[in-house]
Amino acid sequence: MKIKSICCLGAGYVGGPTMAMIAAKCPDIQVTVADMNVKRIDAWNSDVLPVYEPGLDEVVASARGRNLHFTTDIRAAIAAADLIFVSVGTPTKDYGIGAGRAADLRYIESAARLIAEVSHGHKIIVEKSTIPVKTAIAIKSILAANSSSTATFDVLSNPEFLAEGTAIADLENPDRILIGGEPTPGGQAAVEALVSIYANWIPRERILTTNLWSSELSKLVANAFLAQRISSINSISALCEATGADCDEVARAIGMDSRIGPKFLKSSIGFGGSCFQKDILNLVYLCESFNLPHVSEYWRQVVHLNDWQKSRFVEKIVRSLFNTVNGKRIAILGFAFKKDTNDTRESPAIQVCRDLLREHAQLAIYDPRVPAEVIHHDLIQAGIPEKLLASNLEICTDPYAAAAGAHALATLTEWDEFRSLDLARIYDLMLKPAFVFDGRAVLPTAALKAHGFDAFTLGKGE
Ligand code: UDX
Ligand code: UDX
Repeated sequence: MKIKSICCLGAGYVGGPTMAMIAAKCPDIQVTVADMNVKRIDAWNSDVLPVYEPGLDEVVASARGRNLHFTTDIRAAIAAADLIFVSVGTPTKDYGIGAGRAADLRYIESAARLIAEVSHGHKIIVEKSTIPVKTAIAIKSILAANSSSTATFDVLSNPEFLAEGTAIADLENPDRILIGGEPTPGGQAAVEALVSIYANWIPRERILTTNLWSSELSKLVANAFLAQRISSINSISALCEATGADCDEVARAIGMDSRIGPKFLKSSIGFGGSCFQKDILNLVYLCESFNLPHVSEYWRQVVHLNDWQKSRFVEKIVRSLFNTVNGKRIAILGFAFKKDTNDTRESPAIQVCRDLLREHAQLAIYDPRVPAEVIHHDLIQAGIPEKLLASNLEICTDPYAAAAGAHALATLTEWDEFRSLDLARIYDLMLKPAFVFDGRAVLPTAALKAHGFDAFTLGKGE
């Protein structure tokens, strides 16, 4: 089975960059990314892409118009494809059964219904979105019950492990590609067809093939383990602050044990992003559904600790500022959930800013990539009334403007540019005592003290 034409449903942070990479590496395959969001598709077809990722512009430019296309004509894109990636959103349900934990699969289901309606001949359907185990069964039964007699399908699971901010490097040189399929001859042929696409640039030994359920579950488990490491080190950050240890030094010391490894041990105000919390809650719900309350409770703690880390940071600020931030200007550096992305989904900055606004602080927020309207929108969604935002929120275009006249400054995203701030200038601009709360440990601790700041660095004891 040789794939000549691919379609991807969902032009988001995953679908867009992944398809751009496939198109760049496989010039013989036509790749069409389809999305119902007209604004998003227009942006993918313009010079200002809707997703900021280092290196993405070049990859898109190398293939767009040649074998990479972005369209809102979803039906035509499905009809023309031999293989269809489903990369639509799977948010946490906020209503009904499983609210707050289960994945909302309505977009996956509507994608399956549309594929069934439009398809003739044989097509391979690939789950790219992260979904609960056994979703492939649902997709298969919807396809079987709704398609014409001329249509046949194989369903594969091929979760994406890219991290935002490093998407291009992750896609170009992944640790592994995971493809799950059915043990039938048809299923195995479909697996082989997808393997041969990735084999255009990825060594075969890094392409793992498993059964469907192992593949679906592995994605949830990978994210749960990664998030668990962050909650583990964040729990230790509180202990370090209390005891005078330095969390970075502890992380380095334990990370040199090759069994533990050095990555994902950076303490922070908490993990954010569209995946970690959603996927753990999904795992929690899955365990509840299979009557495994001990397992679900174990993983739930990872999210609890993450929430606690964010609120204890806000408490630290309020306590240090003599127990009131009412009317006080606080410079906030960084709003994205991590550096090198314009994405703010589940950003810990949202909760920190929300809680400071509830204390009636005056926030002056600077982020190099997140547009003012997104910050505004996120805080409204977080429950801050428009009126409070109008009086208590200022979006600044550089860190110095944010710091001018501020009682305190807090770093919430680890943007590289914060590492080289002119601290003397910041100090001069701020009210005294000039408080700094370095939630991402990006500022040089010794230099802060030397400049006269009253400085707190997350994870570092006095
Ligand atoms: C998505 C999933 O949320 C995640 O679970 C999975 O691991 C990868 O795909 P992401 O690409 O970051 O992640 O999501 P998002 O940026 O929201 O993109 C989804 C796109 O699908 C949106 O552009 C949306 O407009 C589109 N969509 C959604 C459709 O085209 N049709 C639909 O029915 C629903
Ligand atoms: C994650 C997974 O890494 C990726 O494999 C999966 O496909 C999607 O979810 P992403 O959310 O894009 O990727 O970014 P990641 O680099 O994992 O960071 C997630 C959050 O954890 C960020 O808020 C980041 O600041 C935080 N983090 C990460 C820490 O606080 N400490 C660390 O050591 C690492």
